[in-house]
Amino acid sequence: MGFTQVTSTNDVVIENFSKVRAGSGLLVVADEQTLGRGRLDRRWSTPAGSGIAMSLGLSVSDFSTEISTVPLIVGLATRRALIKFHVPAELKWPNDIVISDSGTKKLGGILIQLVQDKLVIGIGLNVDLGIAELPVPQATSLLIQGFEIDRIELIVAILIELKLLIEDGSKWQQEYANACSTIGKEIKVTNFDGSQISGVAIGIDPTGALEIKNLENLYQITVGDIEYLEVSQD
Ligand code: BTN
Repeated sequence: MGFTQVTSTNDVVIENFSKVRAGSGLLVVADEQTLGRGRLDRRWSTPAGSGIAMSLGLSVSDFSTEISTVPLIVGLATRRALIKFHVPAELKWPNDIVISDSGTKKLGGILIQLVQDKLVIGIGLNVDLGIAELPVPQATSLLIQGFEIDRIELIVAILIELKLLIEDGSKWQQEYANACSTIGKEIKVTNFDGSQISGVAIGIDPTGALEIKNLENLYQITVGDIEYLEVSQD
């Protein structure tokens, strides 16, 4: 389904959940979102004609991996698609598509909602936004980074790569770790309750959790806000 303007493409998928069956998903794409949502209850800005706002409704049973891996698999599919257009995108755990300055500029993000046995997979990408349209200074767009890419071609590429990754559930973990700018960095994680853990991100486990090591412990983080404490020289 294609729309000129919606509140949030995720909402439109939920309103049309009856169309989603195992093996048969629903795709909603909009030119503009008026109430786009990001992770952790943040707003997501999609001004008219400037970005990709797309949501896929799929059944949980379409995935052979754990639900917790879905944001990572979707991020990987998006990165693969961007690489096809020569964009050197990286992934910031768990759901950010980043680029440049050692992976600190945000190009896009993934918002997954689980409703009963169905998943809403929301993907937002800043494509043609100019500097004045960026919602926050750490955001960027493909255009600002020097890439002029047709939005429809990019959406098709993302869907192709996602299908391939879902069909072969064994491929994502190593590839995600290689593409993830978080690994190897000194980071600080802020949990929902405000508590914080600092350490070095050393890997991704099979459930998609981020492994962090510090002098006291080895942690598996499943949710949280990540801040890079140092920028690597690579
Ligand atoms: C994040 O980085 O916090 C996630 C951003 C997800 C934005 C997309 S745009 C399409 C879909 N509809 C929404 O309202 N949100 C997601």
